[in-house]
Amino acid sequence: MSLRSFKRRHLLTLLDYAPSEIVRILEVSREMKRLYYAGMRSLDVLRGRTLMLIFEKPSTRTRVSLEVAALELGMNVIYSNPSELQLGRGEPIKDTIRVLSRYVDAVAARVFRHESLEEMARYGTIPIINALSDKYHPLQALADALTIWEIKGKLKDVKLAFIGDGNCNVARSLIVIGAKLGWEVRIVGPRRYWPDEKLLKEVQEDLKRSGGNIVMTEDLEHGVKNVDVVYTDVWVSMGFESETEQRIRELGKYQVNMNVMKIAGDDAVFMHCLPAKRGQEVTDDVLESSRSVVWDQAENRLHTAKAVLALLLS
Ligand code: CP
Ligand code: NVA
Repeated sequence: MSLRSFKRRHLLTLLDYAPSEIVRILEVSREMKRLYYAGMRSLDVLRGRTLMLIFEKPSTRTRVSLEVAALELGMNVIYSNPSELQLGRGEPIKDTIRVLSRYVDAVAARVFRHESLEEMARYGTIPIINALSDKYHPLQALADALTIWEIKGKLKDVKLAFIGDGNCNVARSLIVIGAKLGWEVRIVGPRRYWPDEKLLKEVQEDLKRSGGNIVMTEDLEHGVKNVDVVYTDVWVSMGFESETEQRIRELGKYQVNMNVMKIAGDDAVFMHCLPAKRGQEVTDDVLESSRSVVWDQAENRLHTAKAVLALLLS
């Protein structure tokens, strides 16, 4: 497996990645997974390098998959929440990242404001990896694309309906990756939760090139008909807790239940980035059904994290 040809860079949104580069990340992810199941979990290709994780919000999948990925590639890992750093006492991000750039080889950060990642990327001299911001969740989208590739046998011409908060980080990153790869991404939910104009403009060129399409509708039945994937995420993302009541009220009609899966058609699988709020955006029976591929999705966070680190840092 050659890891040579990838340019050293940040991974903040995937908007600046060519479709061929995304396919390459996914191919390397598949190879990482194959090696993993062949008993070769430890690859040591990044021996002696250090990954730092800075998380402003809780995380299970992103934190642990990145840590294990880094360790299995031979890296050292340092985890910190900002309150343990001088950041928590007001040291500017731009100062912090210039100092950390002298110690570690990459920073993966989970932040409330996407602008914090942009500031890190502007001032840091090491790759900055978005471990989730209010706007994007690129590592999740990569794992999702890998899962769809494995289960549907295709990376192109995928029809995916995202139900609920269509402007949340996960939905926005699915739009970005879908536009690159030529998917039909349907955003199904109240108009107030449709993706913002700026993002839709940013993906226009990719859509033209790939033949992909973004459809937005408030009509649940119409939106899920004949899709490959029914996808949802929590109605109240981290950082939006003050809107909880309003969101539950406005998104309440858009729960993914067995009836929705039936309308979607027999071939549709159910996906969720997790953690899920059973009884809100999805019912327990859908999540636990044979059509749910959420555990494969979660597993693929590890293989894609390994590919990302190997390609960005080797
Ligand atoms: N899907 C995801 O990013 O989960 P965590 O919040 O547990 O990292
Ligand atoms: N949209 C969710 C994703 C969690 C992985 C959130 O931001 O809380």
